[in-house]
Amino acid sequence: MLFIQPISVAAVFAGLFAPFPTLALAEDDITGVRDIPQFGLGTWLSNREKVAHAVKYALDLGYNHIDAALIYRNEDQTGRGIAAADVAREDIWVTSKLWNDDHRPDEATAAIQKSLSDLGVEYLDLYLMHWPVAFVPGESPKIDQETSIFDTWRTMENFVRANLTRHIGISNFAKKDVEAIMDMCTICPYAHEFETHPYLQQQDFVDFHKDIGVKVIAYSPLANTNPHYDSDVQPIFEDTFWKDLAGKKNATVAQTVLAWGINRGVVVVPKSVHEKYISENQGALEISFTDDEMKAIQDTDKKVRMNDPGKGWGVKLFVDLDAPTRLDDDKKAQEL
Ligand SMILES: NC(=O)c1ccc[n+]([C@@H]2O[C@H](COP(=O)([O-])OP(=O)(O)OC[C@H]3O[C@@H](n4cnc5c(N)ncnc54)[C@H](OP(=O)(O)O)[C@@H]3O)[C@@H](O)[C@H]2O)c1
Repeated sequence: MLFIQPISVAAVFAGLFAPFPTLALAEDDITGVRDIPQFGLGTWLSNREKVAHAVKYALDLGYNHIDAALIYRNEDQTGRGIAAADVAREDIWVTSKLWNDDHRPDEATAAIQKSLSDLGVEYLDLYLMHWPVAFVPGESPKIDQETSIFDTWRTMENFVRANLTRHIGISNFAKKDVEAIMDMCTICPYAHEFETHPYLQQQDFVDFHKDIGVKVIAYSPLANTNPHYDSDVQPIFEDTFWKDLAGKKNATVAQTVLAWGINRGVVVVPKSVHEKYISENQGALEISFTDDEMKAIQDTDKKVRMNDPGKGWGVKLFVDLDAPTRLDDDKKAQEL
């Protein structure tokens, strides 16, 4: 495990402190992985007993991208997997995320330092604002009215200046919030991670990101496979359309669904803790589609969102997107 130097909040916010002077993060000097790899390993709900092995297994197999987050409460084990794998730091991409409790500057600085320390890395490749929602520290899910997404973004920009992360980005933002951040950013979002898969394609939203030069990371790329999700839609592995298409490609449904994501130009981060699935999913990189097949897939969009904690938080999320949050009492809603 690498030692992470403590840094003071004041130093980070003065933009003066480069805590890792031996790191060469200037664009000219960067070696190894420069752009986010299109295929990575997700770690949400990855069992603490199994995730270290899953991460090591994936990296040794050729994965070079790990999608982590402090709130997954397994970054220390993910870090053990990274340390055990036979890979150099500069040859892999590591993403982490700032949780809602930690948007204020002191909390955010402590949070990124904890992620760095737990993951055992000196810098992140990408640090995402996990949701456009700030909670009052220690009073979750009470909404922090004093901290806007713009305040949080300015805090995160200082993490790039302090060499704690190469890039910063956003997650689960509505289109209007992406536009608002693009209007005010000095260091602009590198990527936006949001839910998109065959049952929630959001092609216009994906295209919008291409137009503004922000990469899309598709989470839950296997649609309703995550056992945490409770939707009325049939499991994608039993969907006749996908079974037939997979048969045509001589591939599994998982490989075919992930390949569609890759073919439409988004980054996919399927999660698994099983060697069999981790290895199988990599086969997605070999599959391509004709224009007619891509059009046929587009016609199957169900516009069903699997992951929407907005109701529990009393916050309207995804307001201008497919399947926005519906609150029981809209008067209580806080549009963020
Ligand atoms: N930014 C955000 O707010 C956000 C939200 C959600 C997710 N994410 C990220 O995106 C990642 C992926 O999303 P997700 O975890 O929701 O869902 P997912 O990757 O679409 O699906 C994961 C589920 O599919 C199973 N699976 C994986 N490969 C399979 C295969 N080849 N055959 C059969 N089953 C297979 C896994 O099983 P086993 O695990 O049992 O092997 C797991 O139950 C997360 O882990 C996380 O890193 C980010």
